[in-house]
Amino acid sequence: MKLPHDIQKDFPSLHAMGMRAYLDSAASSLTPVSVLEAMNDYYQNFRSNVHRGMYKTAGEATERYEAVRGIVAKFLNASAPEEIVFTKGTTEALNLLATSLGRTFGPGDEVVLTEMEHHANLVPWQEAAKRHGFVLKYIPITKAYRLDMDAARALITPKTKAVSIAHASNALGTVNPAKELAALAHAIGALFILDAAQSVPHMKVDVRDLDCDFLAFSGHKTYGPTGVGVLYGKKALLEKMEPAQYGGDMIREVKYEASTWNDAPMKFEAGTPNIAGVIGLGAAISYLETIGMDAVEAHDRDLTAYALEKLPAVPGVKIIGPEAGERIGAISFEVAGAHPHDLATIFDREGVAVRGGHHCAMPLMGKLGVTGTCRASFGIYNGKEDVDALVEAIQAARATLKL
Ligand code: ALA
Repeated sequence: MKLPHDIQKDFPSLHAMGMRAYLDSAASSLTPVSVLEAMNDYYQNFRSNVHRGMYKTAGEATERYEAVRGIVAKFLNASAPEEIVFTKGTTEALNLLATSLGRTFGPGDEVVLTEMEHHANLVPWQEAAKRHGFVLKYIPITKAYRLDMDAARALITPKTKAVSIAHASNALGTVNPAKELAALAHAIGALFILDAAQSVPHMKVDVRDLDCDFLAFSGHKTYGPTGVGVLYGKKALLEKMEPAQYGGDMIREVKYEASTWNDAPMKFEAGTPNIAGVIGLGAAISYLETIGMDAVEAHDRDLTAYALEKLPAVPGVKIIGPEAGERIGAISFEVAGAHPHDLATIFDREGVAVRGGHHCAMPLMGKLGVTGTCRASFGIYNGKEDVDALVEAIQAARATLKL
């Protein structure tokens, strides 16, 4: 499926940054001009706080901010805008869950993660486990870089209180069988949490179809601004949960002795939120919807298949991740004899931007027996010419390093 128009002209930074190929959208995607305009509009024309002022621009800021809850709810197929909590990113959303849910777990309880988690879905749970005395279990990965589902079935037991997994791995590109894991979790009454930071930008994600209880994603990987993200939660669960941060806007009544909380989602949004960021996120989602997530996904699959054919043809290159199929266009690889940081630095001289390192997944790197990888990741503005540029950059690096 072809993308509907010349996407590249919508992204001024593609040209301004002067690169030959930007292949680091898994770290942060670029931003279309419609997002910049929406944020500028806020700063220029109705720059006020939300949920507070009695004057016209404060009303407009509140209306525009709240409208994005509806846009996100529709995008994720949530049941209601109240199921959308704005955070500063996936990391904050997952910290909120680990803090708030973690308090309700204790000795004898288990939380099941996977070996391919980003630190954001691992460290908050480790800290909560230390504090409250529950245990973490990890679903292992197979040699084919996919989850070992037999092991998952054995690990998810009546002791499990929550299963929290990456929908798509930022380090391997693997898309995990979320629906199957949700069913396993729900069969024993556990909560199912999806870190969707890497899936939401690449494919249609439907929270009701997946039956996840909570899901988190980031604005800045979804063509929106930095510093904004989303926590989706089923309404009944959000209503029961305690807040994780306290302050203005999240309260119902405050007395010197004690306080009560606003309804969800407001009770999870303490303090002045990232108003421009939320408005920008709304514009980014509207932009993606004009393209269509089916077309976005098909483009990602095509480009990934092309890269998985071209990269291993270069001598010394090994892909660290699954074959084409259930995976996204975040492609980790190593070049025999070269350190990923050296490769990324040489690629930069060739005008090609990739990420080299542990990808915030140090335990996974240890399991794979590497200190890091190079990772090329795609956005909607990339084309086959960018993969060709990467192939040439790898060849240049091999020549420089005399491999
Ligand atoms: N989590 C981001 C990445 O994978 C920063 O690069």
